[in-house]
Order: sequence, then structure tokens, then C-alpha cells
Amino acid sequence: MSILVTGGTGYIGSHTSVELLKSGEDIIILDNLVNSQIDMVDKIKKISGKDLKFYNVNLLEKSEVDKIFKENNITEVIHFAGLKAVGESVKKPIEYYSNNLIGTLNLLEIMKKYDCKKIVFSSSATVYGKPKTVPIKEDFPLSTTNPYGTTKLMIEQILKDLYASDNEWSIIILRYFNPIGAHESGLIGENPNGIPNNLMPYINQVAIGKLDYLKVFGNDYDTPDGTGVRDYIHVVDLSLGHLKAIERVRKSNGIEIYNLGTGKGYSVLEMIQAFEKINNVKVNYKIVERRQGDIATCYADPNKAKLELGWEAKKTLEDMCRDGWKFTKNLNEQN
Ligand code: NAD
Ligand code: UD1
Repeated sequence: MSILVTGGTGYIGSHTSVELLKSGEDIIILDNLVNSQIDMVDKIKKISGKDLKFYNVNLLEKSEVDKIFKENNITEVIHFAGLKAVGESVKKPIEYYSNNLIGTLNLLEIMKKYDCKKIVFSSSATVYGKPKTVPIKEDFPLSTTNPYGTTKLMIEQILKDLYASDNEWSIIILRYFNPIGAHESGLIGENPNGIPNNLMPYINQVAIGKLDYLKVFGNDYDTPDGTGVRDYIHVVDLSLGHLKAIERVRKSNGIEIYNLGTGKGYSVLEMIQAFEKINNVKVNYKIVERRQGDIATCYADPNKAKLELGWEAKKTLEDMCRDGWKFTKNLNEQN
């Protein structure tokens, strides 16, 4: 009996794979390495001290996905695989819809064929659009502003329709807030190609000297210091949420949605200050225009996950800044 982890060599998938292996699960990773590297497999094995099976397969190749199910006894799936860059999705909508939607449909079709009806899906807080109030609860209105977000919303709808058609399915949709940081070993973390879009990878690259300064996108938001406020969550805490979700899909059928966040919001300036203080480094920045599509404040109400999954984020902002920096320094030494 194995858990199939699609996208398991990616940022969140690799951390979750480590935690699954450490807790004694058998896992199989499917990833086409479009946004990750093959050496991740050995790193996951090294940190966990356990073995795993890896398939370099694209979810768009249905017959290849079928083979994986034929060769193994897969009882649950955690579905991370997908393209995730907001800006790129605006420029390449066909690629995003095709990869994320067709990939997911292929996966669900094969799961159904092999009577594997338990799935945990990676959604995003982006499906809340511009929330009217915070903290955000799971039943808030949904809307999106870019093709990436729309793929998440569409897949959520597909999963709801699937459960309505056959309530033997057991489905958990996890809406992540802002995952940051890295494994405490410093061996795995987030290593985006090119210039990062997200705040923390950018801060790390400024601190290491690869980029000159951080552009702070606007200081005229309706927030305590005028800069955007987000719910940053340590990637290891987020990963542990998946172990709780797996426990739950095994126990009962149904479809449930959970926010995975800390419930606390930090501004861009607070993040810079925390990073500088904890790591004793300088992060140069300049205030620039707002980024199109950004919202002022976004943080979770994580109580549903606490009550029903028995999960809550434990790590501090200090852990997030320290572990992310350790990974960045390690990576820099290797290159
Ligand atoms: P990531 O890009 O690091 O990992 C995704 C993995 O999926 C990559 O290793 C990539 O190679 C693989 N992949 C993509 N398309 C594939 C395909 N067709 N077939 C096989 N493999 C494929 O991203 P991540 O940050 O680990 O995110 C994981 C999931 O969580 C994604 O679905 C993402 O949209 C979602 N999510 C991420 C964030 C975030 O801030 N990182 C926030 C909310 C939701
Ligand atoms: C972004 C995506 C969102 C996605 C999430 C996680 C956009 C508009 N939104 O959200 O859909 O789910 O990443 O992948 O891209 N910031 C700067 N300078 C920078 C980068 C960011 O000031 O160089 C600020 C932003 O304005 C924001 C905060 O930092 O206030 C966090 O930004 P980011 O890390 O990109 O995450 P989100 O905007 O929450």
C-alpha cells in the first residue's frame, strides 16, 4: 500500500515526502521535473533515511500514469503537480489550463479505473480573490484574477462534482497561504528558476548578494505600515498538515476544504526586519509602485483544520527566516 505523491520533487512535495517517509509511509513520487531536479530524490532519501520509488512521468501522458497504478498498490494520492507562477499563467494561459486541468483529469480518470478514491489536493488562498474581511474562513466567496488561480478554482469544482457523482470518494482540498522556509537540514528548500516572484525567495537572493535590492510593492495599503500583509507558514508545518489530511481521508468518505495558515499576518517591512535580525544580514530595499493584482491583507482562520484535522502551525517566524537562509547559504556554497 503506497501513497502516490504527484509533484513530489517540488518545493512543498519534497518536504511532505520527507515527513511521510519519516512517519513510516511507503511513497511513490511522480514528477516530470519541469520545475524541480532529479537530485531531490536522493536528498529526500538522505533526510528521511528511507527508500522511495520515483517515476519521471508527465501527468499529460495518461498511459504512463496508468502504468504506475498497474505496477503498484496505490491507496491514496497527494496531488501537488502543477504549474504555479501567477505572472507566467497570464502570458501562457493555454499551457496552464492544459497542464493543470488535463493533468488532474487524467489522474482522476486513472484513479477511478483502479478504484483508488482518496485524494488530497493542493489549492491556494488565491481562490479567495480580494476578501472583504480577514481572517479568511473556508466558506468565504471565491473568485480569481489570473489563469493560475482559475485552474485551482476549476479543479476544486471538478472534485466537488466528482464527489457528488460518487460518494465513495474521499477528498480533501487544502488551501495554502504563503509557504516559506526550508527543511532544518538546509538540504531542501525553494529554489526558483530565474528572478523570484515571491517575497521570501527574493529577500534571500538580495541577502546573499545575487540581487541588488528588494522592490517593496507599495507602502500605501490600508495596513499598519502601508505594506502588504500575508500569512507566512513554515513549509514543514504545511507538510505536516498533509499527514493529518491523509489520516482523515483514510477514516471517512466526503469532501472537505481546509485553510492551512498560521492565522497571523506580517507586513513586507516586518518580514525584512525579522530576516535581518534573525540572520544578522542586510536586506536593501526600495519602495516602488504597487504590483498589479496584489491585495492589502490576507491571512487565514485556521480553526477548521485545528478542530477537524488536529493540525496547527507550530513554527515561528524566526524558524522560517533562519531555515530559509540556511538553505540559501548551502545552495550558494555548492554553486
Ligand atoms: P513546485 O513547482 O515546486 O512543485 C510542483 C511540481 O510539479 C514540480 O516538481 C513540477 O516539476 C511538477 N509538475 C508540474 N507539472 C507536472 C506534470 N504535468 N506532470 C508531472 N509533474 C508536474 O511548486 P510547489 O510550491 O511545491 O507547489 C505545489 C502545489 O501547491 C502546486 O499545485 C501549487 O500550485 C500549490 N500551491 C503552492 C503555493 C506556494 O506558494 N508554493 C501556494 C499555494 C498553492
Ligand atoms: C502570490 C500570488 C498568489 C500565490 C502566492 C503563492 C500574485 C499577485 N499572487 O501571492 O496567487 O498563491 O504568491 O505562490 O502574484 N512583495 C514585494 N516585493 C517582491 C515580492 C513580493 O513587496 O519582490 C510583496 C507583495 O506585494 C505581497 C507580499 O510581498 O504584499 C507577498 O508577496 P508574494 O510572496 O508574491 O505572495 P502573494 O502576493 O501573497
